[in-house]
Amino acid sequence: MRDTFYTAIDIGTSKVTVLISRVGSEGDLKVFGTGVVPSEGIQKGRVEHIEDARASVRAAMSEAQRYIGETGLSGVYVSVSGSHIRSTNRREVLDNEAAAEDISPRMLDDMLRGSFPKVDEGQQILHVIPMGYTVDGLSGVRNPLGLAGKKIEVDSHVVMGDSVVLQNSIKAVETKDVFVKSLVLQGIASAEATLTGDEREMGVVMLDIGAGTTDLVVYRQGSPWFSDVLPVGAQSLTRDLAAALGSSMHVAEDLKINQGSVYPDHVPDNDTVEIPDMKDHWQRPIPRRALAEPLNARMTEILKMALTRMRQAGMQDWPIGGMVLTGGGAQMLGLPELVEEIVGGPVRVGYPYGISGLPAELRKPTFSAAVGLLVWGIKHQDSVHEMNHSVPKETKTRRWRFRAPMRRRAGTQA
Ligand SMILES: Nc1ncnc2c1ncn2[C@@H]1O[C@H](COP(=O)(O)OP(=O)(O)OP(=O)(O)O)[C@@H](O)[C@H]1O
Ligand SMILES: [Mg+2]
Repeated sequence: MRDTFYTAIDIGTSKVTVLISRVGSEGDLKVFGTGVVPSEGIQKGRVEHIEDARASVRAAMSEAQRYIGETGLSGVYVSVSGSHIRSTNRREVLDNEAAAEDISPRMLDDMLRGSFPKVDEGQQILHVIPMGYTVDGLSGVRNPLGLAGKKIEVDSHVVMGDSVVLQNSIKAVETKDVFVKSLVLQGIASAEATLTGDEREMGVVMLDIGAGTTDLVVYRQGSPWFSDVLPVGAQSLTRDLAAALGSSMHVAEDLKINQGSVYPDHVPDNDTVEIPDMKDHWQRPIPRRALAEPLNARMTEILKMALTRMRQAGMQDWPIGGMVLTGGGAQMLGLPELVEEIVGGPVRVGYPYGISGLPAELRKPTFSAAVGLLVWGIKHQDSVHEMNHSVPKETKTRRWRFRAPMRRRAGTQA
């Protein structure tokens, strides 16, 4: 039976967001409960104090259930991030020599399972996402179901993380009533909510600039091809600004959002802002450009770090779809101009779409990951690359029951 309710929990460095949604009569998702609370116990996208993190998740959950009671609990989709995340691409080959069977969903499931690489001790696989198939030498097959073929190859994108860190995300969420249906990489969730089909096909880089991390996903020919997490985000801009001005974090955050820019050339020479001292006793005027300089330096560093990681992953040409920026940091004034200068265009800010009933105050880049978790949930609830980290026993047994063996060659690195 297909699920009726989908619940997303985005555990961010600055806030925890819970969205409870239901499948409408036309198969669309409609949000009817939302909770957003400042997060405690999260550092750079990962849980670092379990009790504080649990309390934040509980508070966001209660807020989302304010008017709807205990509805929507049970299996939830939870975002994960942090610099422990790694990704790789794999190719798995399946022999079906007698071509006795047409390619079936079961065969594809088996192949995907075969492409789960052996991970280092302490690592756990988060996603195995098929990118494309080759059937008897015919490459670029998107959907091989029903074809006859003797040799079927699958290329898949595999995302892994540190199992202890992943386990802590589960611990922050699970209670006797709530279990984690799937952990989803935050960047992939944000991409689900912001990228258009054309962008994915043409190739695009999605950057979710959060408070503590910048999540990076490169799409090629419709699928994720590279994912990574940088351990730096928009909070570092605030910290640098506070240090440059000798002000508190609170004042620097306010100045960053309301007066800051990461593109100093656009700030008129004679613009000034009044800034309070550490104790808010007195105000002093400073040129607005003095705010832009440290913000520009840090954002430039983040963008260059992202470029270096993409080059190291083997990306040579800039994708035609350019870059989509999302996450709270994507709202930084002057960012599209800076991106065009450093990496080239096209560039746009990605707002979450794909579900209905989202209150206006949540239709912002900050909430892309939370919305994307719901989109991911409805798309992937039955698929094999839903890794099922923690599900009730009877479901687990049914889902992973051994099925007819296929002859398989060892997986090779694509
Ligand atoms: N209008 C704005 N202009 C500039 N920066 C902004 C704006 N609004 C929010 N931010 C910044 O965005 C950051 C929060 O982004 P977001 O909510 O995406 O982070 P998060 O999901 O909690 O963290 P992470 O994903 O890194 O774990 C904060 O550092 C905040 O200062
Ligand atoms: Mg985030």
